[in-house]
Amino acid sequence: MKKAKKIIDSVYWVGARDINCRDFHGELFPIEEGATYNAYLVIDEQITLFDTVEEEFTKDCLERIHSVIGDKELDNIVLQHAEPDHSGGLVQLQKAYPNAHIYASTGCVRNVKAQFPIDFDITPLKTNDTICTGKFNFTFVEMQMIHWPDNMLTYCPELKTVFSNDAFGQHIINYQLTDQGLDKDYCIRQAKEYYANIVLPYTAQTAAKLKLIGSMNLDIEYIMPAHGIIWKDFVSDILAAYQDFAALTSKNKAVIVYQSVWNHTQELAESLAEGFGDAGWDVKIYPLSTTRSSIIFREIMDAKVICVGSGTYNNDMSYSVAAFLQHLKASKLKGKKGLAFGAYGWFPRVAGTLEQIMTEAGLESAHEAIKQNFQPSDNDLENAYNIATEIAKAL
Ligand SMILES: Cc1cc2nc3c(=O)[nH]c(=O)nc-3n(C[C@H](O)[C@H](O)[C@H](O)COP(=O)(O)O)c2cc1C
Ligand SMILES: [Fe+2]
Ligand SMILES: [Fe+2]
Repeated sequence: MKKAKKIIDSVYWVGARDINCRDFHGELFPIEEGATYNAYLVIDEQITLFDTVEEEFTKDCLERIHSVIGDKELDNIVLQHAEPDHSGGLVQLQKAYPNAHIYASTGCVRNVKAQFPIDFDITPLKTNDTICTGKFNFTFVEMQMIHWPDNMLTYCPELKTVFSNDAFGQHIINYQLTDQGLDKDYCIRQAKEYYANIVLPYTAQTAAKLKLIGSMNLDIEYIMPAHGIIWKDFVSDILAAYQDFAALTSKNKAVIVYQSVWNHTQELAESLAEGFGDAGWDVKIYPLSTTRSSIIFREIMDAKVICVGSGTYNNDMSYSVAAFLQHLKASKLKGKKGLAFGAYGWFPRVAGTLEQIMTEAGLESAHEAIKQNFQPSDNDLENAYNIATEIAKAL
């Protein structure tokens, strides 16, 4: 039997750990150490559950709830997001607790009904709606596009807690549940990777919501997200980090990604890296087919320049570069520069195509594309090195 874990007086973790998960949201977000689906039970005159878990883990969630309340009834279920990692357990939970009053944002009601066989009522909520469960009051804030149109978060002033759902999530599995005793940089880096792969296309909406939450002057001691650790010691750090993420704050940093069969494109990539490095910049360089896309997008977030290279194969770019560019376009980055490069044998067009797609993806060209016929000579490599140092100097 699974048991709940107490977080603070009146609040219990009743979620699930998906320790085998390495492909969060399918291929979209490869992860390293598994995922959690956090659900929180708040004990008051009325008993309230915040979020459910992915469907296959509903038994865990039910057992953990039972370990706290025994045969008592659940009074309320607040569903903060319609995506199945949080709403998948709703139908079974409603079956177990048919008298529970279910709340969700208007968009969530619609989206959850379009995915699950629901024949029970769900009360729609909007920003600033509140419920009182006895000594605790809960205020709801719609969080559209962080990460679906139906997301919501909930603040409880008496508990000084934000139940934030997808916002402020990360994929850290910690059996102590909170950030206490963990390395701060590691926690923020994991949150950054999550942001880069879940929220990045919606930075404008995130910035607006952070502003709104800031204007509410909330006294926050705990942020309890629906994935990963609970923020306790690093609350102000994660809030500041989200400001940076949403502003796409960049530093003197180049991320170079490429794919290369005979190392010709790779040699150009390495010369560019040395050029940026000698100019004093941070450099990250990744072969695309063997690097987790989630790491690359985490590193791109605070880079000033993104360099994309591919050899030419059957008159086209490599498959992994094409997939990367599609992901780049979907990420809707703003304020960053791009540089395309690549080797060819007899069809010198791929580097230009890369440049064109990068421009369409919102990157301003830092220099015209570098087109390399077969193996780069010492002169060619020096040219690439110089282009990188010139770009670094100019920015
Ligand atoms: C499977 C394969 C297909 C290729 N097809 C083309 C092509 O259609 N047009 C072309 O210009 N070069 C073609 N090439 C030549 C490569 O573009 C050339 O060798 C280039 O220098 C490879 O760069 P790389 O070492 O970075 O992969 C092909 C090479 C390979 C391995
Ligand atoms: Fe989500
Ligand atoms: Fe989620």
